[in-house]
Amino acid sequence: MKPYHANDQDGYANDVNWQQIRADFPILQRQIHGKPLTYLDSAASAQKPQMVIDAISDAYSQHYANVHRGIHRLSEEATDKYELCRTKLAQFINAPSAHEVVLTAGATVSLNIIAQSYGGMVLKQGDEVLISIADHHANIVPWQMICQQKGAILRAAPVEPDGHVDMNKVADMVSHKTKIIAMPHVSNVLGTVYDIKALSELAHAHDAVMVADGCQGAVHMPVDVQALGCDFYVFSAHKLYGPSGIGMMWGRHDLLASMPPFMGGGAMIDRVTIEASTYADPPERFEAGTPPIAEALGFAAAIDYVEAIGMDHIRDHEHDLITYAHQKLSAIDGVRLIGTAGAKSGVISFVMDCAHPHDISTIVDRAGIAIRAGHHCAQPLHDFLDLPATARASVGIYNSRQDFDVLAEALEKVKVIFA
Ligand code: ALA
Repeated sequence: MKPYHANDQDGYANDVNWQQIRADFPILQRQIHGKPLTYLDSAASAQKPQMVIDAISDAYSQHYANVHRGIHRLSEEATDKYELCRTKLAQFINAPSAHEVVLTAGATVSLNIIAQSYGGMVLKQGDEVLISIADHHANIVPWQMICQQKGAILRAAPVEPDGHVDMNKVADMVSHKTKIIAMPHVSNVLGTVYDIKALSELAHAHDAVMVADGCQGAVHMPVDVQALGCDFYVFSAHKLYGPSGIGMMWGRHDLLASMPPFMGGGAMIDRVTIEASTYADPPERFEAGTPPIAEALGFAAAIDYVEAIGMDHIRDHEHDLITYAHQKLSAIDGVRLIGTAGAKSGVISFVMDCAHPHDISTIVDRAGIAIRAGHHCAQPLHDFLDLPATARASVGIYNSRQDFDVLAEALEKVKVIFA
């Protein structure tokens, strides 16, 4: 591993050499429309450091075979490396055991497993599932589907106009009917950091389980699932500088052991006859078929990469960026920030009086800046806020204050064009 904790060169509040980190990402050397790339769309998907690209290439060129199947050297090597990913993930989120970590195709699949398998097992007519109005579709639609199947009711807790969560209002929506609370660790539009510990205590006081959607959480701050007290935690590799097509689902062992499989196929069974099958224990019970093997090796490299920097340093660096971005963008006349809660991470969403977010995105793209515009897979939140769309800049470890100087300058040009 490279020694990332070098001398402070950029004035930030910790001793990581962020310029060196930026240089680890080959794509950031690209020019877009003849301008240096300013990548501010990591909440949609993060870029990949050379180390992750090398790990994927190395998987295919040196260690590739199917896992958990072959009694030959390459299959054993691939299996060991695949399982090492699980072990690293367990350490990364401080799970009590690697047997509680299921490798999935991504957070969306993880949430569908929890909804169909756990929700399908416990939900009855009239029961309730509580989500947040700020959830993205991956933590809405799977719950809608299972509630429709079971005659259960899906409810959504509000957010306040500035994006903060009034826990009294959430508590008022929880009762003996609530069987599952499923909320984001961090809103992908507002950036609001949800108090997962308090939500877990609320859920447990009503004999419900707490599902934390960590898509925008685990990428921005240290995660300790035992300290958070939740029952499930999910996230995707591709937002954590790893490959697409893989993610994880952590669940408490007693819950996983009680849950039926989500999908049937090879690797998730114990014994199969034509009449019936018995199933493997977790985590294999939830990993039917050939898994994403090279992706798991890339995921493990991504975990190594961010751990070498330190998730606490990443949290502080990104907090500095978001604070700076708030100052910079709110100083522009005609820009309104959407989501200004005190506990905030990762994203800065905004609208402009003069231009639709799609137009903003198109114009800043000409300056080499990648932001996202639209509903960000969170249509109910935009309806709730009475906004058709927002523009969103989101940060990763390779961003700097200068990226927001460039964005602010481009937004001034948007004003000139639409004046
Ligand atoms: N949910 C992802 C985003 O926020 C795709 O962009």
